[in-house]
Amino acid sequence: MNERRYALTRRRFIMRAAGAAAGGLATGVLEGAARAATAVALGAQPPGLPARQFAWDATLARDRYGNAIAPRYDRLLFFDVKGTPTTAHARQLENALRTLERTYPWGPSGLLFTVGWGHGYFTRLLGTSSPVPPAMALSDFELPTIDDYDLCLHLACDEALRLAAVEAALVGGAPLSGASGPLHLASALVWRETRTGFVGSGLPAANQQVGGIPSDRPVPAGAPLYMGFKSGLTRNQASEDAIAIGAGPFAEGTTQQVSYMRLRLDSWYGELSDRERVARMYAPQVTPQQAARFTVDAASDPSLYGQAVRRYGVVGHAQTSARARRAGKPLILRRDFDTADGGQAGLHFVSLQRTIDDFIATRSAMNASDAQFHNPAITDTVNNGINEFIFVLKRANYIIPSRAERSFPALPGLAAALR
Ligand code: HEM
Repeated sequence: MNERRYALTRRRFIMRAAGAAAGGLATGVLEGAARAATAVALGAQPPGLPARQFAWDATLARDRYGNAIAPRYDRLLFFDVKGTPTTAHARQLENALRTLERTYPWGPSGLLFTVGWGHGYFTRLLGTSSPVPPAMALSDFELPTIDDYDLCLHLACDEALRLAAVEAALVGGAPLSGASGPLHLASALVWRETRTGFVGSGLPAANQQVGGIPSDRPVPAGAPLYMGFKSGLTRNQASEDAIAIGAGPFAEGTTQQVSYMRLRLDSWYGELSDRERVARMYAPQVTPQQAARFTVDAASDPSLYGQAVRRYGVVGHAQTSARARRAGKPLILRRDFDTADGGQAGLHFVSLQRTIDDFIATRSAMNASDAQFHNPAITDTVNNGINEFIFVLKRANYIIPSRAERSFPALPGLAAALR
């Protein structure tokens, strides 16, 4: 950046920061931000990238029915902000993300990612109100750790080694083949945790020698998820348009819920027949033959829920979750993936929705805690969808701003500093 431009940018930034101070923002932030004189030059951004960070669907391959095929590998990187956030922090993060955008095409053959910000970033570091609430336990039968990370970076593509290389560059400063520009985040962010995983035909079967899965290799060879069923059919997902925030500082953003669940599939595969697994995954009114023919909709009619409870004494996961639909449409867009982290079968459940309340409504519907009042054969977990087989270990909520606002959103002076 030339000196004159820099001086202007800085003056504009300080004026904005002063204005924000009058508006009551945390003074520590302003002092820190005002010290941010060591601006890093901001790299160029390839043209044509979508305004929504979560606009992945248009880049995804489709199966023969038109269902989007998720990227095969995912990685979640969690960070805290280093010290007091400044515009120099924001420039460093933005620069690294732009380097990634220049290095890889936006799509599963290149790289897809979202940056989300947690409750504490807004309240603790900026002294302002958070657009998302802190996460909490969402059923009587879970006791999750509530993550307090400032930032969640979700990376996804079809090449596992690429995600490892990107992480090594961002976190450890390792060189990244083909990249021209800064990537190392260490002076802006402190790395806290990484979670990894995969989803797609063949991958769960290839990774089934882990805790939580019986040793006789029961996961079907072509299954995209450990539990053996296809997921993410078009009509069982919210659309990207439906989950986009329409107005305000987070317009074209969305909210993200990230949980980590352990799977315990001994009785799933060891004690249940195909028929019983289909009943628990979809609905007791669905037969394995019907399930095998699902194309764009797992037709697990929520209006048959009452019948499932009273007549069958078992309810299905898709059926109970579908009770949360609004105008016939699901509220959440699931971008979850299996994991073998820690040598244990698990699921990193990542879902996007316009508000965290939409997630809570969906998860409450999935709990089906009302069923036991009508039929004691069903409890919170027994005969109740897949609740018996998943154990929530961790939960967290994030806001995913628009692409333009993704680096240190709501930081005073940000717009000028990123110009
Ligand atoms: C191991 C964990 C899970 C597995 C294997 C799983 C699998 C499935 C499957 C096979 C369907 C049928 C529809 C489709 O093919 O997309 C479905 C639907 C659904 N699931 Fe899950 N799921 C899991 C966890 C969750 C969790 C934690 C939630 C959170 C609330 C959830 C929410 C939903 C919703 C909202 C639907 C669509 C309901 C509708 O059509 O309105 N699932 N899931």
